[in-house]
Amino acid sequence: MATPALADGEVNIYSYRQPVLIQPLLDAFTKETGIKTNVIFASDGLAERIQAEGANSPADVMMTVDIGRLDGAKQLGITQPVSSEVVNANIPAEFRDPEGHWIGLTTRARVVYASKDRVEQDSITYEELADEKWRGRICTRSGQHVYSIGLFASMVAHHGAEKTEEWLAGVRDNLASKPSGNDRAQVKAIFAGECDISLGNTYYMGKMQTNEKEPEQKDWANSVKILFPNTEERGTHVNISGVVMAKNAPHPAEALKLIEFLSSDAAQQVYAEANYEYPVKPGVAASERVKSWGEIKPDSLPLAEIANNRKTASELVDKVGFNDGPSS
Ligand SMILES: [Fe+2]
Repeated sequence: MATPALADGEVNIYSYRQPVLIQPLLDAFTKETGIKTNVIFASDGLAERIQAEGANSPADVMMTVDIGRLDGAKQLGITQPVSSEVVNANIPAEFRDPEGHWIGLTTRARVVYASKDRVEQDSITYEELADEKWRGRICTRSGQHVYSIGLFASMVAHHGAEKTEEWLAGVRDNLASKPSGNDRAQVKAIFAGECDISLGNTYYMGKMQTNEKEPEQKDWANSVKILFPNTEERGTHVNISGVVMAKNAPHPAEALKLIEFLSSDAAQQVYAEANYEYPVKPGVAASERVKSWGEIKPDSLPLAEIANNRKTASELVDKVGFNDGPSS
């Protein structure tokens, strides 16, 4: 092991993830390696910034969420392939780009939030969301949001475009209203009796359950249960948060060390816990709170397959007029 005092260097991180989520990890990284970290945080535009900075970009790595944004960075041409035995051993292949351009660090599932009062069933499938029994009872955010597109792309991968189009039209007709708002707003709508089920990412349950700033969110959370779709068969759709190495990284060796560190057991646990997510490294446990929402069986479809079907999914959303809401 290198002596921290002898190690040198720094690594520049462009992060869409909030400092509160990553700072404890970065502190641990610096303690272990002696490598200093510099973070630039923004909620948008970082990929474009790296692109604009070109060969002079100080960015070594970019941390972001969703396969759409990770693969989007690869498509923009601002990434470089990472080849690491450590990373390959820690992160299952389905959560990495086959060419090494993006690496998943945590997973989050896109689940059904269901009213405890008005929904009796304790299991569900994505397919049945198009069933007439849900007429007027579903709430969701925009069909074009990256989280929605990830799920719809997984439907395209499993069922093909034609079946997915039919399904999307069926779900659209079951909506209680036009898609709007974020994932938490849908749970609020369930709490208010405006709909009975919604689609949302798992970690929002944790964010609502522990929200001291806006304690009414605890009531929203308390009015629903999480149903993990398709547990009986292929499993629940999961997406990732992850990291890319910038194409013109001025400190590639330090950047690689950071990426390897983020894939380690200790970092995986801390990082996943910070945002109520799941570690991607097998054998690292989710937090007690996350486990309390129920057993998850993740769909093993490679995230690269989801990336490949995003465009089709987005076209289908427009084609069926998903965001126009129910047709009658
Ligand atoms: Fe989110």
